[in-house]
Amino acid sequence: MKYDFDQVHERRGTSSLKWDALESRYGDKDLLPLWVADMDFKPPAEVVESVVKRAQHGIYGYPAMPGDYFAAAADWITKHHLWQIKPEWIVHTPGVVIALNVIIQRFSAPGDGVIIQEPVYYPFMSSVTNNERKILNNQLLFDGKKYRVDFDDFEKKAAAPEAKLFLFCSPHNPSSRVWTADELNRMADICLRHNLLIVSDEIHSDLIFPGFRHTPIASISPQIAERTITCYAPSKTFNLPGLESSFVVISSDELRAAMKKQITANALGANIFGPLAHTTAYRHGEDWLAQVMKYIEANYLFTKTFFENELPSVKVIEPEGTYLLWLDFRSYNLSASALRQKLRKEARCALNEGDMFGSGGEGFARLNIACPRSILALGLARIKEAFA
Ligand SMILES: Cc1ncc(COP(=O)(O)O)c(C=O)c1O
Repeated sequence: MKYDFDQVHERRGTSSLKWDALESRYGDKDLLPLWVADMDFKPPAEVVESVVKRAQHGIYGYPAMPGDYFAAAADWITKHHLWQIKPEWIVHTPGVVIALNVIIQRFSAPGDGVIIQEPVYYPFMSSVTNNERKILNNQLLFDGKKYRVDFDDFEKKAAAPEAKLFLFCSPHNPSSRVWTADELNRMADICLRHNLLIVSDEIHSDLIFPGFRHTPIASISPQIAERTITCYAPSKTFNLPGLESSFVVISSDELRAAMKKQITANALGANIFGPLAHTTAYRHGEDWLAQVMKYIEANYLFTKTFFENELPSVKVIEPEGTYLLWLDFRSYNLSASALRQKLRKEARCALNEGDMFGSGGEGFARLNIACPRSILALGLARIKEAFA
């Protein structure tokens, strides 16, 4: 089936965070929403059909996991990421951010240190601080084009007596880095030597641009896998975040039992639609994903050409994966609040302003390009008008 991603769907009035929460989040309901990681596209037709069919059944009792839930995800990961996982290593979680919080609660204690790499997806910071743990920021290095890991600093942070966990964003949001096997090896080696647990959030791992390859950090060796909890979800890949279904992969029996215990302690369950959509998407969504990635890549090239020709003071950091572009506005020398004002009041666009990603995010903004080209073009024209 050929999908038409140019089609604009009316999302206002659907209780959409992206479209209906602009007033509460940005103070203006009429901004053009190019923020939160949620696509303006319908998921694979088979997913919609399976959810509609289930909804029409009309009885919404307590759910059981679809029989194929675990094998569908294991087969997908084995095929797409060349990591041979067993279905029994999979544990359902109702969202990756929830999983990160549960992991922090179970595998560290208040006051312990958690390594993160700023600028980074903002719940990485809040999940550490909300649980009274301490952020150990292994700040990413930026040479104006590409982000890299500061391995010397990583070693120092890992050696700190309070360091317990490494919360890893792979691929990295918002820098869009897809880490190389060599980088992964070096980070894992440091973690193993200092006995840190690796928590690898690989939610964006299916959204990779041509020329790059995602490697699950746990796939490098069984020793690394034994010290790693990997978080996945079909929600970014197939645009299903409102169905709140994700999972973790844990090869260590001991860590998996502890994780299950904490999930039960937090009384977390599943709903009837999320696991069903998960199973359908992993079994039938491959062709849709190939088509949507082509469209997103074309949107990236469109955006890159736009800025190069129309507004060269804004630099687009070349994405290796994800549908989130990291834009460098630093040549304007604006404070974080002045950049925010200009984007909101003059460009009339809602982007994720860079300072929310922590240290190193000031002067940047994150643009979501998983939308019809007409919406993207409108947003870019508005940004040009405000900044030219
Ligand atoms: C790196 C990363 N992890 C997790 C999430 C959110 O996952 P969930 O909706 O399953 O909590 C996002 C969403 O943007 C993300 O970028």
